[in-house]
Amino acid sequence: MTDVDKIRADFPILKHKIYGKDLIYLDNAATTQKPQVVIDSIAKYYSELNSNVHRGVHFLSDKATTAYENSRSRIATFINAKNSYEIIFVRGTTEAINLVANGYGNEFVKEGDEVIVSYLEHHSNIVPWQMLCQRKNAVLKVIPVNDDGELIIDEYKKLLSEKTKIVAVGHTSNSLGTKNPVKEIIELAHNSGAVVLIDGAQAVQHTKVDVRELDADFFAFSGHKIYGPTGIGVLYGKEDLLNAMSPYQGGGDMIKNVSFELTTYNELPYKFEAGTPDICGSIVLGDAIEYVSQVGLDNISEYESELLKYGTDKLKEIDGFRLYGNAKNKASVISFLLEGIHPYDVGTILDKMGIAVRTGLHCTEPLMKRFGIPGTVRASFAMYNTKNEIDALVDGVKKAKKMLS
Ligand code: ALA
Repeated sequence: MTDVDKIRADFPILKHKIYGKDLIYLDNAATTQKPQVVIDSIAKYYSELNSNVHRGVHFLSDKATTAYENSRSRIATFINAKNSYEIIFVRGTTEAINLVANGYGNEFVKEGDEVIVSYLEHHSNIVPWQMLCQRKNAVLKVIPVNDDGELIIDEYKKLLSEKTKIVAVGHTSNSLGTKNPVKEIIELAHNSGAVVLIDGAQAVQHTKVDVRELDADFFAFSGHKIYGPTGIGVLYGKEDLLNAMSPYQGGGDMIKNVSFELTTYNELPYKFEAGTPDICGSIVLGDAIEYVSQVGLDNISEYESELLKYGTDKLKEIDGFRLYGNAKNKASVISFLLEGIHPYDVGTILDKMGIAVRTGLHCTEPLMKRFGIPGTVRASFAMYNTKNEIDALVDGVKKAKKMLS
């Protein structure tokens, strides 16, 4: 059970007024708000710890390095990685995917090989693979979705062959909320000899993820969607795969020895962490994850499912409401249109009522084309949202409909 009032008290931004109205923040799939412990942790780092990591013998450098590495261990525990050196700090999910598309793809994908993505993917999990396929003359294949926004697994099975080298799919769709059967997807790919990258950007804040139980080869997520800072994220990779990959970027910390003739590379995880990293962000991400763990992902998941059901049932009562994404297994995302009304207009009216939603393509243009729509209005709920806020959304949508019809 979550105590939503107690949780809300931890998020100072939720007390703010927007146009003189209470802020109702329903754009959590884009980014989540930050609890006070995260805000304090940023100030604490720069007030007490600031120093470079792995580079100094002095007291502060040692303290910053310890905090940085402790955070890596916390994150490894959070997703149940076997070793903390399988956790690579990156800028976010996008960078993690680009790292694998380059580091693994350049090494192991050859002309005529195939890479599989799905219709549900965010552009970040399409474009790096498309670029890889262009570099290598490889072929990009796409798992289709049904009208409920679920992947068609029988079609996926048909796409798999000995040519498949990489399967890259999202755990949870950012625009429709669909939770994919990732364990099955991974097992089928492994049976064909392919490795799998799971884009977990919309998963780790909603549900418990165990990378070893899933047997994921790579798993990526962003800090800012799990109540942490922007500009920091995580790539998990299995040790043997990370070791077999070439570095993504050259620079400090990723080297063992440098000469003009030959450079040798550092061991994991540093081989993939060129340059001074986001030390503050990495440390604070550990604190954000600690906060989420204390609330408990089972509690969060249960509460958000309740919000999803409540919101979906109420919105469906509105005449002309069309829901996109009706998967049996869904995260707390409601994507919709009002018949004959452009999503942007609905979003703009809701904004004037203090209600923040996202409108548009949600960085999933092929998926929107699949449904033949110009985008949707998307309300995405987090652990601090309430049924009262959903009531306000429903009233707001009704008013928008009246004004725009
Ligand atoms: N990927 C983010 C979203 O879905 C930005 O809104």
